[in-house]
Amino acid sequence: MTPQHASELTLQTCLLAPVVPVLVVDDASIAADLARALVVGGLPALEVTLRTPAALDVIREMAGVAGGVVGAGTLLTAADVENAKAAGATFGVAPGATDRLLDACEANDLPLLPGVATATEAMRLLERGYSVQKFFPAEANGGAPALKAIGAPIPQVRFCPTGGVSLKNAGDYLSLPNTVCVGGSWVAPANLVAARDWDAITALATQAAALPR
Ligand code: 3PG
Repeated sequence: MTPQHASELTLQTCLLAPVVPVLVVDDASIAADLARALVVGGLPALEVTLRTPAALDVIREMAGVAGGVVGAGTLLTAADVENAKAAGATFGVAPGATDRLLDACEANDLPLLPGVATATEAMRLLERGYSVQKFFPAEANGGAPALKAIGAPIPQVRFCPTGGVSLKNAGDYLSLPNTVCVGGSWVAPANLVAARDWDAITALATQAAALPR
C-alpha cells in the first residue's frame, strides 16, 4: 500500500467521528462489550493499544463487533504490525514513525496514522506521502496553539492530536482547520471499564461524538 493510499484510508477512519477512543484493555473477555458501548455512543473507530498482554485478543474480539472499525495503537516494530494485522486491525497508530515501521505498514497493507511532534517530522512524513498524522503528545507539546502554529506553514497535513486531550480541551483542537479528529482515553476510563459500566461509557461516547468540528 502506498503512503498516499494509506493516508486516504486513515482520513476516512478519522472522519467517522470527532474522537477516536484510545483503549488500554487488560481483559479480552470484556472487549466486545466495551467496543459495543463506544460504537453505540457514536464512536466507531477504536484504537486498541498494544500495551497489555491481552491486546491482540482484544483486537480479535472487537473486530467482530458490528459497526466498529478497530485499529492497533502503540505500533513500534514490524512484528507489532504483522501481529496487529493478523488479529484483524484495519488501521495502525504509532507514537512516532521510523523507516522500518513505515516499511512494515506499507508491506502489510496496514494504513498507518504515524506520530509526529515537530515541523521537521511532519515534513519528513509528508515527503514520503503521509498527509494524515498524529500530533503526539499533543498537550505536552504545546497543545492546540502549537498545532495551529505548525499548520500555518504546513496546511496540507491533517492531524489527529492525542495525548492529554479531554472533553475540556478537545474543542480547541477540533476548531483548527488542520485537525480532523482527536484521540483520547477519557471516553473509556479505567474505573468505568473495571465496573463494566457500559451505559456510562456509552454516555461519555455520546458526549464526545457530539463535539463540533
Ligand atoms: C496514550 O498515550 O495513551 C494516548 O496518547 C492517549 O493519551 P490520553 O490518555 O492522554 O488520552
